[in-house]
Amino acid sequence: MQRFVISGGNELNGDITLQGAKNSALPILSASVLVRGSSVLSNCPDLTDIYAAARILTHLGCKVHRTGQNTVIVDNPGVSLTYIPDKLMREMRSSITFLGPVLGECSECRLCLPGGCQLGPRPIDIHLDALRQMGVTVCEDHGGIYCKAEEGVKGAKIVLPFPSVGATENIIMAAVKADGDTEIKNAAREPEIVDLASYLNKCGAKIHGAGESTISISGVKTLNSCEYSVMPDRIAAATYMSAALITGGKLRITGTDGLDIESFAVFFGQMGCSVYVYDNSIYVKAKKRINAIKSIKTLPYPGFPTDMQAIVMAPLSIADGTSIIEENIFESRYKHVDALNRMGADIKVYGKVAVVHGVNTLYGADIEATDLRGGAAMVIAALAAEGTTEISEVQHIDRGYESFDKFLHAAGADIVRKS
Ligand code: EPZ
Repeated sequence: MQRFVISGGNELNGDITLQGAKNSALPILSASVLVRGSSVLSNCPDLTDIYAAARILTHLGCKVHRTGQNTVIVDNPGVSLTYIPDKLMREMRSSITFLGPVLGECSECRLCLPGGCQLGPRPIDIHLDALRQMGVTVCEDHGGIYCKAEEGVKGAKIVLPFPSVGATENIIMAAVKADGDTEIKNAAREPEIVDLASYLNKCGAKIHGAGESTISISGVKTLNSCEYSVMPDRIAAATYMSAALITGGKLRITGTDGLDIESFAVFFGQMGCSVYVYDNSIYVKAKKRINAIKSIKTLPYPGFPTDMQAIVMAPLSIADGTSIIEENIFESRYKHVDALNRMGADIKVYGKVAVVHGVNTLYGADIEATDLRGGAAMVIAALAAEGTTEISEVQHIDRGYESFDKFLHAAGADIVRKS
């Protein structure tokens, strides 16, 4: 297992090239099951989760290869296998987004509950209820799930009880080649949903309203080859913004074409960052002392993203004053708090609320990455800590950040990856 050894105190300065969005690339790769021919996906990040998706596609009979740094080509001769082995399913949470497309393509799918970051219970009841409404019979048995649409997947009017990102994606993918029209009300509105719909529409799908609460899909018979560029990763952008902020540095994050940072840039402004977007780049310049934030509540898009909760907690732990964070999306998404407190932070968790009393200094410690974003928060904290921090279990971080240590090192951080 690898670890990061970080000696804190260096200001970050320079350029970071932003990766393509993991949470967009993964469902797009799943959706390529529906597309006969080649999907040429540029800006596809080089991440362990992407390799896990490629292994599922290969198992299903597709040929997947990476050319250059970040173009992934999926050649799909027509998927007919409907079973995904447990080992492949358990490699990541996003494997569940193969359910919709395999069903949409083959009217049948057998898989098990997915793996992924342990953020509390992560049921898939919303996915399965929606699929039932689309004519799918669902049998669940000891973690195994068998879905079959005897007469093919049918369009339906679905009202989601919560705008689940994964459920919205699965319904879209089950619906694009279904018989008839589908309407999803209370759909997730995340930019990654828009990206998935744009890819599918480029292949010939008829999806309207992605990014809004109501999405309509008219089933089509076939989807054809296309070239598509995955959107930039807004969570990675915020991670580098936090790293600049906590070190009192100045970064230019390039490759942010079309990225809408409004939903979170305002918080970085409040924390004491100058942020501006110009010429496909985000410029971030930190002030010397970080301001506390009275209230941050994680909410579905366009609210503050849960994936950024840990990432902003790191700089807030040394802010001037007390910040209150409320985590409303996942039940156990404060696993990084223990590690930050071991570094000298003063954070108390009361159920879904975290009270972050800013301290003057963080100190190096031996800590363990608990999950992807929590691990990234530990790296951010370590960049500003006095002394050396060793973070083990960095495979969690590698699931979502491409060349994280290399980019930070190039911008001036003292970070080394060790085996
Ligand atoms: C996606 O997960 C992202 N993952 C997560 O990013 C992100 O945190 C999350 O959306 C919320 O924005 C990918 O895109 C691969 P949800 P997903 O379904 O689809 C409950 C990261 O760090 N729920 O919107 O799993 C669920 O338990 C990751 O990059 C049900 O109760 O999120 C959770 O509390 C982690 N039943 C909430 O809804 C269901 O059937 C949000 O889940 C589905 C979800």
